[in-house]
Amino acid sequence: MQTVIQYTRFGGPEVLEVAEKPDPIPGAGKVLIAVKAAGVNPIDMKLRRGTRPSDPIDKPRRVGFDASGVISTVGEGVEAWSVGDEVVVRGAAGAYASELVASAGKLVRKPRNVSFEDAAALGIPAGTAYQVVASLGPAEGDVLLIHGASGAVGQAAVQFARERGVTVVGTASARNLDRVRELGAIALEYGDGLVDRVREAVPQGVDYVLDMAGTDDALQASFELVADRSRIGTIVAGPRAAELGIQAWSGGSPVPLTEEQEALRAEGLDVALQGLADGTFQVEIGAVYPLAQAADAQRAGESGSVRGKIILVP
Ligand SMILES: NC(=O)c1ccc[n+]([C@@H]2O[C@H](COP(=O)([O-])OP(=O)(O)OC[C@H]3O[C@@H](n4cnc5c(N)ncnc54)[C@H](OP(=O)(O)O)[C@@H]3O)[C@@H](O)[C@H]2O)c1
Repeated sequence: MQTVIQYTRFGGPEVLEVAEKPDPIPGAGKVLIAVKAAGVNPIDMKLRRGTRPSDPIDKPRRVGFDASGVISTVGEGVEAWSVGDEVVVRGAAGAYASELVASAGKLVRKPRNVSFEDAAALGIPAGTAYQVVASLGPAEGDVLLIHGASGAVGQAAVQFARERGVTVVGTASARNLDRVRELGAIALEYGDGLVDRVREAVPQGVDYVLDMAGTDDALQASFELVADRSRIGTIVAGPRAAELGIQAWSGGSPVPLTEEQEALRAEGLDVALQGLADGTFQVEIGAVYPLAQAADAQRAGESGSVRGKIILVP
């Protein structure tokens, strides 16, 4: 039997149910994966709460987009993959599960020396971070301010920007500043007085801003620090981006990602996996929960008390 997490109405973590289903059979071009780890992302909670608009729920809705595991069955016509291959899936249809059917085209090989937990932590966060840093385009010597640098996307973005020779100023709460500093950024506490702290830390000025927080304070500080709004990008305040004159990538934006941006997101997962394998990229795992405790895992995610990725293991 396959264990899945699902919900049939919008609401708090309590709407998540653990359900048992017959083992799925992968169709043509698909594989069945024995899931070893699934990443918990904020979008999972936004969809569950109904704060990110989605279709009405007319049948049980599965949860989660990022998974890693081992191929257990190969569907017809799949040549590139075999039973036993260790893989990572981006854009999975229901990653919170013990078994998962995925299109062969969505699979990425997991390097042997990367753990399943680390591998499941990358799809959305590292893919997004890689794409937004590339799309915004800071170059060597530029100064980039990242709001929310201690988060999963933020930590990855700090590393990708540092890799380009960019000076990064990253905001976080006081308890997480050490982590932002460890990744090579100038770490500053968000909140009152942020603009002054940034000006003191980088008297040469800020060239670009990436907003991973979406708060009014973060946006206002961005406007005070960077006059050219095309150099400010958000992944959270998408619905307001056009009116504010800033860039947005998904995050509620009515403008879909371009093919090029989608390709960058896929590339970001590859780059992060290779970086983990060769020790040039880091991912922080904050907590690991059994799959059946998905509601507790999401509760912890929503509380903001866990720094680093929250992972579910079947
Ligand atoms: N557009 C997209 O495609 C896309 C993709 C991925 C994620 N997202 C969105 O991006 C956001 C971040 O995702 P994530 O996975 O990195 O989440 P996360 O790991 O939970 O991180 C949240 C970050 O926000 C920071 N933060 C909280 N309150 C803040 C404030 N008032 N001012 C500045 N920063 C604040 C946190 O800092 P402390 O913990 O130090 O307080 C932390 O760095 C989420 O809203 C998510 O839905 C969008």
